[in-house]
Amino acid sequence: MKTFTTATIFGLAGLSLARQCQNISVPVTISSVNAEFNVKTPVTDIEVTDFVLNYTQLGKNFPASVKTGTKTINGTYKLAVTLCNPDDGQSDTVQLLSHGGGFDRTYWDIPFNSYNYSYVAVAVDQFHYSTLTWDRLGFGQSQHGDALNEIQFQLETEALNALTTLLRQGKISNTSKPFAKVVHIGHSFGSALTYAFTQQHPTASNGIALTGFSTNGSFASLLAYGSNFIQANTLPHLKHYPNGYIAVSDASALHIGFLAPNQFDPAILTYAIQNLNTPITIGEMLTFGSAVSQANSFAGPTLVITGERDLPFCGGNCFVSPSAEFATIPDAVKAALPQSRNFTAVVVPDAGHGLNLEFGHGFTYRTVNEYLLENVGV
Ligand SMILES: *[C@@H]1O[C@H](CO)[C@@H](O)[C@H](O)[C@H]1NC(C)=O
Ligand SMILES: *[C@@H]1O[C@H](CO)[C@@H](O)[C@H](O)[C@H]1NC(C)=O
Ligand SMILES: *[C@@H]1O[C@H](CO)[C@@H](O)[C@H](O)[C@H]1NC(C)=O
Ligand SMILES: *[C@@H]1O[C@H](CO)[C@@H](O)[C@H](O)[C@H]1NC(C)=O
Ligand SMILES: *[C@@H]1O[C@H](CO)[C@@H](O)[C@H](O)[C@H]1NC(C)=O
Ligand SMILES: *[C@@H]1O[C@H](CO)[C@@H](O)[C@H](O)[C@H]1NC(C)=O
Ligand SMILES: *[C@@H]1O[C@H](CO)[C@@H](O)[C@H](O)[C@H]1NC(C)=O
Repeated sequence: MKTFTTATIFGLAGLSLARQCQNISVPVTISSVNAEFNVKTPVTDIEVTDFVLNYTQLGKNFPASVKTGTKTINGTYKLAVTLCNPDDGQSDTVQLLSHGGGFDRTYWDIPFNSYNYSYVAVAVDQFHYSTLTWDRLGFGQSQHGDALNEIQFQLETEALNALTTLLRQGKISNTSKPFAKVVHIGHSFGSALTYAFTQQHPTASNGIALTGFSTNGSFASLLAYGSNFIQANTLPHLKHYPNGYIAVSDASALHIGFLAPNQFDPAILTYAIQNLNTPITIGEMLTFGSAVSQANSFAGPTLVITGERDLPFCGGNCFVSPSAEFATIPDAVKAALPQSRNFTAVVVPDAGHGLNLEFGHGFTYRTVNEYLLENVGV
């Protein structure tokens, strides 16, 4: 079986279109104002569950109630990235893709079923973009760190900013050239990161696509409960993570948080829990909420695309109108991005939160890439 079936599927008039990818370890020197919390890092699974029960309690802003101050941290961190170019060389525009919680950069290039679910294959082979996927700082093959005090939302935002700068300078690898344009695509927590990055650096992105996202924080606790989180290092393939890294416990928990009824091949659920399941940190859980609630003056094009049945961002139904002004929950993201050019919100009918794992991924990939092509170019 060929490695890249898309080359055949999308091959035009005998041209061979196969993406050229390289894995690169990129050091970034960054500084971040992190939060300090009066919280003990959970050690046992009982403490992990207690942390979730504390975190989600109605009527309490738990992160604010345990925050004691801030601490500036800085360092040089190793990030694991994959840069892919079309066969005929680097494009002018690179898509910088940030995965969500529970996954690493493989989310964008899933090997399952001969890469048929690969977002990267569509973006590179069909739309001719270069792509850079990265394991978020703290996860996968990127450097890990302290789960409470270090791997927090702001440090990850600084890492995304550093990668963006390196792409514009052509310094990601000794073979890459400067990219004229960088667009940012996220999924879930990666969309929140993309949002915060453009909020802090409104001119640093040429366009954004926020997948599996809304600005409605009312449903985050559903994911926290449904994930049935356990200490990540109790799972064989995650045993090298320190305490405070917590992971979705099993296939049913992954299904609840990420997949909608009748929208997926049962074999990809098994594949995902065995091969893709990556932890989150309690530090990022405690820090991402406040960052996403800030108004954003980003003026570039913005696409929000979220599954109708998305649990953490729509409570299982994006079509419930949040106010007279907005028809859907993703539509209401416009209120946070009032200056965005051609703001567009799309609800994928019947789809769940983990769009790339479902049958409808092709629609999502085309919608994102057509939007970027029309509004930013390639
Ligand atoms: C990059 O690393 C991943 C994970 O280790 C591996 O599966 C993949 O084959 C590597 N890709 C390249 C182009 O070396
Ligand atoms: C949860 O809150 C209770 C009551 O405030 C506290 O005693 C306990 O240590 C907290 N547990 C964790 C893991 O944060
Ligand atoms: C890093 O932190 C140390 C101690 O807080 C400080 O002295 C140093 O100037 C910082 N370096 C950078 C590059 O911010
Ligand atoms: C996956 O398979 C479907 C059905 O054969 C096809 O339409 C689609 O283009 C394939 N996608 C990729 C990325 O290979
Ligand atoms: C680029 O770096 C790699 C790995 O460090 C090295 O093997 C290769 O020779 C370098 N290529 C050039 C053109 O400098
Ligand atoms: C979230 O969405 C629900 C349902 O549309 C709505 O009732 C609620 O006011 C929204 N909350 C926020 C914070 O936007
Ligand atoms: C907005 O983006 C869509 C692509 O999704 C494009 O068809 C349309 O022309 C754009 N509208 C404006 C006003 O730029």
